[in-house]
Amino acid sequence: MSTDTQTSGGATPVLELKGLCKSFGGLHATRDVSLRIMAGDRKAIIGPNGAGKTTLFNLITGIYPATSGNILLFGQDVTTWPSHRRTALGMARTFQVTSLFPKLTVLDNVLLAIKGLRPSKFVMWRVLSSYRDVYEKAHQLLEQANFLDRKDTEVRNLSHGEQRQLEIILGLASDPKILLLDEPAAGLSSGESIEMTKFLMGLDPKLAILLIEHDMDVVFDVADEISVLHFGEVLETGSPEQIHSSARVQEIYLGTD
Ligand SMILES: Nc1ncnc2c1ncn2[C@@H]1O[C@H](COP(=O)(O)OP(=O)(O)O)[C@@H](O)[C@H]1O
Ligand SMILES: [Mg+2]
Repeated sequence: MSTDTQTSGGATPVLELKGLCKSFGGLHATRDVSLRIMAGDRKAIIGPNGAGKTTLFNLITGIYPATSGNILLFGQDVTTWPSHRRTALGMARTFQVTSLFPKLTVLDNVLLAIKGLRPSKFVMWRVLSSYRDVYEKAHQLLEQANFLDRKDTEVRNLSHGEQRQLEIILGLASDPKILLLDEPAAGLSSGESIEMTKFLMGLDPKLAILLIEHDMDVVFDVADEISVLHFGEVLETGSPEQIHSSARVQEIYLGTD
Protein backbone atom coordinates (compact mmCIF):
# COMPACT_ATOMS: atom_id res chain seq x y z
CA MET A 1 0.00 0.00 0.00
CA SER A 2 1.30 3.45 -0.89
CA THR A 3 2.32 5.70 1.96
CA ASP A 4 2.82 8.94 0.06
CA THR A 5 -0.55 10.28 1.20
CA GLN A 6 0.19 10.06 4.91
CA THR A 7 -0.35 13.23 6.85
CA SER A 8 2.15 14.57 9.33
CA GLY A 9 0.12 12.85 12.06
CA GLY A 10 0.84 9.50 10.39
CA ALA A 11 -2.77 8.57 9.70
CA THR A 12 -3.80 7.65 6.18
CA PRO A 13 -6.86 9.48 4.88
CA VAL A 14 -9.93 7.31 4.35
CA LEU A 15 -10.55 9.16 1.10
CA GLU A 16 -8.37 11.59 -0.77
CA LEU A 17 -9.04 13.44 -4.02
CA LYS A 18 -6.10 14.99 -5.83
CA GLY A 19 -6.70 17.49 -8.61
CA LEU A 20 -9.76 15.63 -9.82
CA CYS A 21 -11.18 16.76 -13.18
CA LYS A 22 -14.08 15.58 -15.31
CA SER A 23 -15.08 16.94 -18.70
CA PHE A 24 -18.15 16.12 -20.72
CA GLY A 25 -17.06 17.24 -24.17
CA GLY A 26 -16.19 20.91 -23.68
CA LEU A 27 -17.98 21.17 -20.33
CA HIS A 28 -15.73 21.07 -17.28
CA ALA A 29 -18.11 19.58 -14.70
CA THR A 30 -15.34 18.95 -12.12
CA ARG A 31 -12.30 21.25 -11.98
CA ASP A 32 -9.23 20.40 -9.96
CA VAL A 33 -11.04 19.18 -6.84
CA SER A 34 -8.79 18.13 -3.95
CA LEU A 35 -9.96 17.03 -0.54
CA ARG A 36 -9.03 14.72 2.26
CA ILE A 37 -11.30 12.80 4.62
CA MET A 38 -10.02 11.14 7.79
CA ALA A 39 -11.75 8.48 9.94
CA GLY A 40 -14.80 9.95 11.67
CA ASP A 41 -14.79 13.14 9.60
CA ARG A 42 -18.15 14.59 8.65
CA LYS A 43 -17.67 16.61 5.50
CA ALA A 44 -20.19 18.14 3.19
CA ILE A 45 -20.06 19.44 -0.33
CA ILE A 46 -22.72 21.95 -1.13
CA GLY A 47 -23.49 24.01 -4.18
CA PRO A 48 -26.36 25.21 -6.31
CA ASN A 49 -27.97 23.04 -8.99
CA GLY A 50 -25.53 22.26 -11.78
CA ALA A 51 -22.47 22.96 -9.60
CA GLY A 52 -21.15 19.43 -10.23
CA LYS A 53 -22.10 17.68 -6.97
CA THR A 54 -23.51 14.51 -8.49
CA THR A 55 -20.67 14.34 -11.01
CA LEU A 56 -18.16 14.43 -8.15
CA PHE A 57 -20.14 11.72 -6.34
CA ASN A 58 -20.13 9.58 -9.50
CA LEU A 59 -16.36 10.00 -9.87
CA ILE A 60 -15.70 8.97 -6.27
CA THR A 61 -17.97 5.94 -6.49
CA GLY A 62 -16.62 4.84 -9.87
CA ILE A 63 -19.68 5.46 -12.02
CA TYR A 64 -17.75 7.87 -14.27
CA PRO A 65 -14.07 7.64 -15.17
CA ALA A 66 -12.06 10.73 -14.19
CA THR A 67 -10.59 12.85 -16.99
CA SER A 68 -7.53 13.55 -14.84
CA GLY A 69 -6.49 13.55 -11.20
CA ASN A 70 -6.51 10.78 -8.61
CA ILE A 71 -8.83 9.13 -6.10
CA LEU A 72 -7.24 7.32 -3.16
CA LEU A 73 -9.08 5.06 -0.73
CA PHE A 74 -7.11 4.18 2.40
CA GLY A 75 -3.96 5.31 0.59
CA GLN A 76 -4.60 3.08 -2.40
CA ASP A 77 -5.06 4.60 -5.85
CA VAL A 78 -8.52 3.46 -7.01
CA THR A 79 -8.92 6.03 -9.82
CA THR A 80 -9.53 3.37 -12.46
CA TRP A 81 -11.23 0.79 -10.25
CA PRO A 82 -14.84 -0.28 -10.87
CA SER A 83 -17.46 0.53 -8.21
CA HIS A 84 -17.69 -2.92 -6.66
CA ARG A 85 -13.97 -3.03 -5.88
CA ARG A 86 -14.21 0.33 -4.13
CA THR A 87 -17.16 -0.99 -2.12
CA ALA A 88 -15.13 -4.03 -1.12
CA LEU A 89 -12.42 -1.75 0.28
CA GLY A 90 -14.94 -0.13 2.65
CA MET A 91 -16.88 2.54 0.78
CA ALA A 92 -20.66 2.50 0.88
CA ARG A 93 -23.17 4.64 -0.92
CA THR A 94 -26.90 4.74 -1.11
CA PHE A 95 -28.66 4.57 -4.41
CA GLN A 96 -31.19 7.07 -5.66
CA VAL A 97 -33.24 4.15 -6.99
CA THR A 98 -34.51 2.43 -3.90
CA SER A 99 -33.01 -0.92 -3.02
CA LEU A 100 -35.69 -1.80 -0.46
CA PHE A 101 -38.09 -4.74 -0.66
CA PRO A 102 -41.44 -3.14 0.28
CA LYS A 103 -43.37 -6.28 1.24
CA LEU A 104 -40.71 -7.57 3.59
CA THR A 105 -40.18 -6.37 7.14
CA VAL A 106 -37.45 -3.98 8.17
CA LEU A 107 -35.57 -6.84 9.86
CA ASP A 108 -35.80 -9.07 6.78
CA ASN A 109 -34.46 -6.26 4.59
CA VAL A 110 -31.49 -5.88 6.92
CA LEU A 111 -30.86 -9.65 7.05
CA LEU A 112 -30.86 -9.82 3.24
CA ALA A 113 -28.48 -6.86 3.00
CA ILE A 114 -26.05 -8.46 5.45
CA LYS A 115 -25.98 -11.65 3.39
CA GLY A 116 -26.05 -9.78 0.07
CA LEU A 117 -29.10 -11.78 -0.96
CA ARG A 118 -32.24 -11.04 -2.93
CA PRO A 119 -35.75 -12.30 -1.99
CA SER A 120 -35.62 -15.07 -4.63
CA LYS A 121 -33.12 -16.86 -2.42
CA PHE A 122 -35.05 -15.99 0.68
CA VAL A 123 -36.84 -19.28 1.28
CA MET A 124 -33.60 -21.14 1.51
CA TRP A 125 -32.17 -18.29 3.52
CA ARG A 126 -34.96 -18.64 6.12
CA VAL A 127 -33.72 -22.11 6.90
CA LEU A 128 -30.19 -20.85 7.27
CA SER A 129 -31.19 -17.81 9.23
CA SER A 130 -31.09 -19.52 12.56
CA TYR A 131 -27.43 -18.54 12.56
CA ARG A 132 -27.18 -16.25 15.50
CA ASP A 133 -24.38 -14.01 14.32
CA VAL A 134 -26.36 -12.66 11.37
CA TYR A 135 -29.37 -11.91 13.58
CA GLU A 136 -27.14 -10.31 16.15
CA LYS A 137 -25.57 -8.10 13.55
CA ALA A 138 -29.00 -7.09 12.20
CA HIS A 139 -30.14 -6.24 15.72
CA GLN A 140 -27.02 -4.27 16.36
CA LEU A 141 -27.43 -2.26 13.14
CA LEU A 142 -31.08 -1.54 13.92
CA GLU A 143 -30.36 -0.68 17.52
CA GLN A 144 -27.55 1.71 16.64
CA ALA A 145 -29.83 3.44 14.15
CA ASN A 146 -32.68 3.64 16.67
CA PHE A 147 -34.85 1.44 14.45
CA LEU A 148 -35.43 -1.65 16.61
CA ASP A 149 -38.99 -0.58 17.46
CA ARG A 150 -39.87 -0.86 13.74
CA LYS A 151 -38.09 -4.15 12.99
CA ASP A 152 -41.32 -6.06 12.30
CA THR A 153 -42.94 -3.30 10.24
CA GLU A 154 -43.33 -3.98 6.53
CA VAL A 155 -41.19 -1.50 4.64
CA ARG A 156 -44.14 -0.26 2.55
CA ASN A 157 -45.76 0.95 5.80
CA LEU A 158 -42.80 3.15 6.75
CA SER A 159 -42.94 6.85 5.94
CA HIS A 160 -40.91 8.11 3.00
CA GLY A 161 -38.38 9.63 5.40
CA GLU A 162 -38.02 6.34 7.33
CA GLN A 163 -37.48 4.46 4.06
CA ARG A 164 -34.64 6.82 3.18
CA GLN A 165 -33.10 6.17 6.60
CA LEU A 166 -33.45 2.42 6.15
CA GLU A 167 -31.59 2.65 2.82
CA ILE A 168 -28.67 4.12 4.75
CA ILE A 169 -28.87 1.33 7.36
CA LEU A 170 -28.66 -1.23 4.53
CA GLY A 171 -25.59 0.61 3.24
CA LEU A 172 -24.00 0.06 6.66
CA ALA A 173 -24.52 -3.72 6.46
CA SER A 174 -21.18 -4.09 4.64
CA ASP A 175 -19.31 -2.39 7.55
CA PRO A 176 -18.05 0.55 5.52
CA LYS A 177 -15.44 2.97 6.86
CA ILE A 178 -16.82 5.75 4.70
CA LEU A 179 -20.38 6.51 3.73
CA LEU A 180 -21.19 8.67 0.70
CA LEU A 181 -24.59 10.29 0.59
CA ASP A 182 -25.92 12.16 -2.43
CA GLU A 183 -28.68 14.49 -1.26
CA PRO A 184 -30.17 12.29 1.51
CA ALA A 185 -32.79 14.94 2.24
CA ALA A 186 -33.94 15.35 -1.39
CA GLY A 187 -37.71 15.02 -1.64
CA LEU A 188 -38.21 14.99 2.13
CA SER A 189 -40.59 17.30 3.97
CA SER A 190 -38.99 19.71 6.43
CA GLY A 191 -40.06 17.49 9.35
CA GLU A 192 -38.54 14.44 7.66
CA SER A 193 -35.34 16.39 6.95
CA ILE A 194 -35.01 17.12 10.67
CA GLU A 195 -35.47 13.40 11.40
CA MET A 196 -32.84 12.54 8.77
CA THR A 197 -30.45 15.03 10.34
CA LYS A 198 -30.91 13.45 13.78
CA PHE A 199 -30.47 10.01 12.26
CA LEU A 200 -27.19 10.96 10.56
CA MET A 201 -25.89 12.60 13.73
CA GLY A 202 -26.59 9.37 15.64
CA LEU A 203 -24.44 7.15 13.39
CA ASP A 204 -21.19 5.58 14.62
CA PRO A 205 -18.71 8.44 15.29
CA LYS A 206 -15.85 6.39 13.77
CA LEU A 207 -17.61 6.31 10.40
CA ALA A 208 -16.46 8.97 7.93
CA ILE A 209 -19.31 10.63 6.06
CA LEU A 210 -19.17 12.65 2.87
CA LEU A 211 -22.47 14.34 2.33
CA ILE A 212 -23.35 15.93 -0.97
CA GLU A 213 -26.31 18.12 -0.41
CA HIS A 214 -28.28 21.03 -1.72
CA ASP A 215 -30.24 21.59 1.52
CA MET A 216 -28.06 23.83 3.68
CA ASP A 217 -29.95 23.16 6.92
CA VAL A 218 -29.10 19.43 6.92
CA VAL A 219 -25.47 20.17 6.16
CA PHE A 220 -24.97 22.77 8.87
CA ASP A 221 -26.05 20.34 11.58
CA VAL A 222 -24.26 17.22 10.34
CA ALA A 223 -20.96 18.49 8.90
CA ASP A 224 -17.83 19.70 10.70
CA GLU A 225 -16.43 21.10 7.48
CA ILE A 226 -18.14 22.28 4.33
CA SER A 227 -16.77 22.83 0.84
CA VAL A 228 -18.71 24.91 -1.62
CA LEU A 229 -18.72 23.79 -5.22
CA HIS A 230 -19.35 26.33 -7.98
CA PHE A 231 -19.03 25.49 -11.68
CA GLY A 232 -17.22 22.30 -10.72
CA GLU A 233 -14.61 24.04 -8.59
CA VAL A 234 -14.16 24.24 -4.80
CA LEU A 235 -14.80 27.91 -4.14
CA GLU A 236 -14.47 27.88 -0.38
CA THR A 237 -13.92 25.42 2.49
CA GLY A 238 -14.64 26.13 6.14
CA SER A 239 -16.60 25.42 9.28
CA PRO A 240 -20.41 25.64 9.06
CA GLU A 241 -20.20 29.06 10.75
CA GLN A 242 -17.66 30.35 8.24
CA ILE A 243 -19.66 29.10 5.27
CA HIS A 244 -22.90 30.40 6.73
CA SER A 245 -21.53 33.91 7.03
CA SER A 246 -19.62 33.91 3.74
CA ALA A 247 -20.76 36.69 1.44
CA ARG A 248 -19.48 34.77 -1.61
CA VAL A 249 -21.52 31.71 -0.70
CA GLN A 250 -24.68 33.72 -0.17
CA GLU A 251 -24.05 35.39 -3.50
CA ILE A 252 -23.79 32.16 -5.50
CA TYR A 253 -26.82 30.63 -3.79
CA LEU A 254 -28.93 33.73 -4.33
CA GLY A 255 -27.47 34.41 -7.76
CA THR A 256 -28.08 31.05 -9.39
CA ASP A 257 -31.09 29.56 -7.67
N1 LIG B 1 -23.50 12.57 -18.17
C1 LIG B 1 -23.39 13.88 -18.45
N2 LIG B 1 -23.17 14.29 -19.71
C2 LIG B 1 -23.04 15.61 -20.00
N3 LIG B 1 -23.12 16.60 -19.08
C3 LIG B 1 -23.36 16.23 -17.81
C4 LIG B 1 -23.50 14.87 -17.41
N4 LIG B 1 -23.72 14.82 -16.06
C5 LIG B 1 -23.71 16.10 -15.66
N5 LIG B 1 -23.49 16.95 -16.68
C6 LIG B 1 -23.37 18.41 -16.58
O1 LIG B 1 -22.40 18.70 -15.59
C7 LIG B 1 -22.79 19.82 -14.83
C8 LIG B 1 -22.88 19.42 -13.35
O2 LIG B 1 -24.01 18.58 -13.17
P1 LIG B 1 -24.29 17.80 -11.81
O3 LIG B 1 -23.05 17.12 -11.39
O4 LIG B 1 -25.49 16.95 -12.00
O5 LIG B 1 -24.62 19.01 -10.81
P2 LIG B 1 -25.38 19.01 -9.39
O6 LIG B 1 -25.50 17.63 -8.89
O7 LIG B 1 -24.55 19.90 -8.52
O8 LIG B 1 -26.73 19.64 -9.65
C9 LIG B 1 -24.09 20.32 -15.40
O9 LIG B 1 -23.83 21.35 -16.31
C10 LIG B 1 -24.64 19.08 -16.10
O10 LIG B 1 -25.47 19.46 -17.17
MG1 LIG C 1 -27.12 16.43 -8.13
